[in-house]
Amino acid sequence: MAETSRRGLIGAGLILAPLAASAGAGGDAAGGGGELALPPSGQGVAGGDETYWSQIAGLYDVTREVTQLENGNWGMMARPVLEAHARHLEMVNRRSSFYGRRAFGADWTRVRAKVAADLGVAPDEIAFTRNATESLEALIGGYNRLRPGDAVLYADLDYDSMQWAMTWLKGRRGVEVVTIALPEPATRQGVIDAYAAALAAHPKVRMMLLTHVSHRTGLVLPVAEIVAMARARGVDVIVDSAHAWGQLDFRLPDLSADFVGLNGHKWIGAPIGIGVLYIRKDRIGDVDPFMASEEFKADDVLARVHTGTMSYAAVLALGDAVDLHRRITAGAKERRLRALRDRWAEAVRGVGSIEVLTPADPRMTCALTSFRLKGRTSADDNRALARTLLDRFGIFTVSRDGVAAGSCVRVTPALFTRPEEVDKLTAALKTLAA
Ligand SMILES: Cc1ncc(COP(=O)(O)O)c(C=O)c1O
Repeated sequence: MAETSRRGLIGAGLILAPLAASAGAGGDAAGGGGELALPPSGQGVAGGDETYWSQIAGLYDVTREVTQLENGNWGMMARPVLEAHARHLEMVNRRSSFYGRRAFGADWTRVRAKVAADLGVAPDEIAFTRNATESLEALIGGYNRLRPGDAVLYADLDYDSMQWAMTWLKGRRGVEVVTIALPEPATRQGVIDAYAAALAAHPKVRMMLLTHVSHRTGLVLPVAEIVAMARARGVDVIVDSAHAWGQLDFRLPDLSADFVGLNGHKWIGAPIGIGVLYIRKDRIGDVDPFMASEEFKADDVLARVHTGTMSYAAVLALGDAVDLHRRITAGAKERRLRALRDRWAEAVRGVGSIEVLTPADPRMTCALTSFRLKGRTSADDNRALARTLLDRFGIFTVSRDGVAAGSCVRVTPALFTRPEEVDKLTAALKTLAA
């Protein structure tokens, strides 16, 4: 099954305007039929333009059981994408292998080209995976320039399973593992200096992990600057961009990173089960071909990860999600998410005992931001705080551990979050801090 599936791959009004179907979704022969109803363009729309954003919020059928401010786990699909996904699922199920063996390859190629164009890279620099974990584990495990006695580096704010993958390299590659804590409170220069100091103190470091947007605190790192500084010292950087694509307005070349793992099911809003692995073309040889990759040439990025059969419908719906993302535009999404974040985070910063863990610097923050009550740094404290927000105020957030300075509670609005919901959080936090 895996063999055949892989072989197949080789070979501005206020009313929603139905547009032509996205490439790859335009009929039975090409992946599911139906039209993707897209909203007016968000080009130039301000983060606080409630007329536009209430229309976008209306695209999401979000639960009203709670005030949903935990949208970092994954991003729910907007209704047009959900409907397209349902159509794709039905079509793939009905046409089965007749579609999979004959037509899916062309659809896959179209979605790959669309994703690559949005990321600003060449299609043959990316491979689809099932999530960012699969992408990043393939990169960390496959990176082949480490020698026994070298060192690798990661920070407290990196994602747990990526930290574990870096630690796994100790047994696998015979390297030393260096860990650092990023400064809190953070500044752009402070973070760059922390990595520079770590590399100066540990000259054997040859590869490091860098998380574009931290899932623990929401801190956005100056990736390009850190990559340049590391490169000047002969250190390669694997970038965990699981949270960035669709949340921040950037293209991969802006990061100047050679190895990146991304998610389609967070801020791009594709169905759960789709991620992207990127390797800059001239660096593909620095990641070993994955086991069982014989059907691809040694210099093919597709040889770097082997998923077996994936959800065809998820691949097709990724194309639809990218269409919606591009219609709203990355810039407008970033502005909206930051406006929602600033509305609560800057309103409670320094109120009573509240510590907001990301700076006000717009370059270092977007949708995700964590806070804690001064001195309440244990995991239990913060689990209890998130529980209080839910039980007393009906607001759903999540506690996060692993920050060197202490645990915290993470708040993550989404495009469907309404200003009143953020204000409800602000009022609740002021009550708790009093
Ligand atoms: C920073 C970061 N990296 C990697 C991942 C892994 O993503 P996934 O579970 O979709 O593979 C996450 C998930 O939340 C994350 O926040």
